[in-house]
Amino acid sequence: MARIRTINDFKTAREEKRPISMVTCYDFAYARLIEQTEIDTILVGDSLGNVVAGYSTTVPVTLDQMIYHAEIVRRGAPSMFVIADLPFMSYHVSVGDTMRNCGRIMKETGANAVKLEGGRDFAKTVESITKASIPVVGHLGLTPQSVHKLGGFSVQGREEDKRRIMIEDAKMLEDAGAFCLVLEMVPEALAREITESLSIPTIGIGAGRFTSGQVLVINDLLGMDERFKPKFLKKYANLADTVKTALTSYHDDVVGGRFPAEEHTFK
Ligand code: KIV
Repeated sequence: MARIRTINDFKTAREEKRPISMVTCYDFAYARLIEQTEIDTILVGDSLGNVVAGYSTTVPVTLDQMIYHAEIVRRGAPSMFVIADLPFMSYHVSVGDTMRNCGRIMKETGANAVKLEGGRDFAKTVESITKASIPVVGHLGLTPQSVHKLGGFSVQGREEDKRRIMIEDAKMLEDAGAFCLVLEMVPEALAREITESLSIPTIGIGAGRFTSGQVLVINDLLGMDERFKPKFLKKYANLADTVKTALTSYHDDVVGGRFPAEEHTFK
C-alpha cells in the first residue's frame, strides 16, 4: 500500500496490518520536507502550544492559532492527509459551537479531518461531527487538555477500573463514527487489547509496539529540546546541537570578519 491519501486508506492499512506513520507539524518548512518523505499523515497537534509557543500545557491554545498553523501546513504539504486538533473548549460548549468551529477548521485550513480528546462524554460530539461529513480521530489515555483533571502527565489505564473504562470508551468512539484513535501514554498490553477490539486503526504515542501506527511530535523526534527525554521517545536526530553549532559558527564568522566572503557579495 502506498502512502495514505484518504480516510479509506486508514481502513485498508488496518485491514492489511500495515503500520501507519504519523508525525506532528506546525509550519511550512517542515510540512514541505515531510511531503518529500513517505510519512503517511500529518497531525497539526495542539502540542504546538508546548513546542512552538512554549506554554506548559495545551490549555491556552486557541482555535485561531490552530487554524493559522493548519493552513500553513496544508500549503507546505498539499497532497498529504492532514488532521487538525480541535483545541480545548472548542468542542465542549454546545453542538452548534462545535460544528461552527469544525466548519472553520475544514473551510479555512483545507485539513482532511479533526481530532478531539475524550471518551464516552464526547461520543455524541463525534457522532454530530461525523454526520456533518467531517472525519474525526479520537484520542484516549493521556489527554493533555485534561491535565488539570488528571493531575499531571502520567501513564493512564493502569488501574483495573480505568483500564475497563478505556476499552469501553474506545468502542464508543468507534461506534460514534471515529475513523482512527490516538492512544497516548497507555500500558502496552492495554493498547494492544484496545487495538485488537476495534476495526478502526489505533495510533500510539507511548502506547507500545502493538498499535496500528505511531505518532511523534516532530520537535521531539528531531531532538530539538535536549531537556525532553521521556521513556517512549526515540530521537532520530539531535537538531538542538546541530542548530547551536551552526549558529555559533555563524556568530564566530561574523565577529571574526570571515562572513560574508567575496563569493557572497554582489558586483
Ligand atoms: O497535540 C499533539 O501533538 C497530539 C499528539 C501527541 C498525539 O495530540
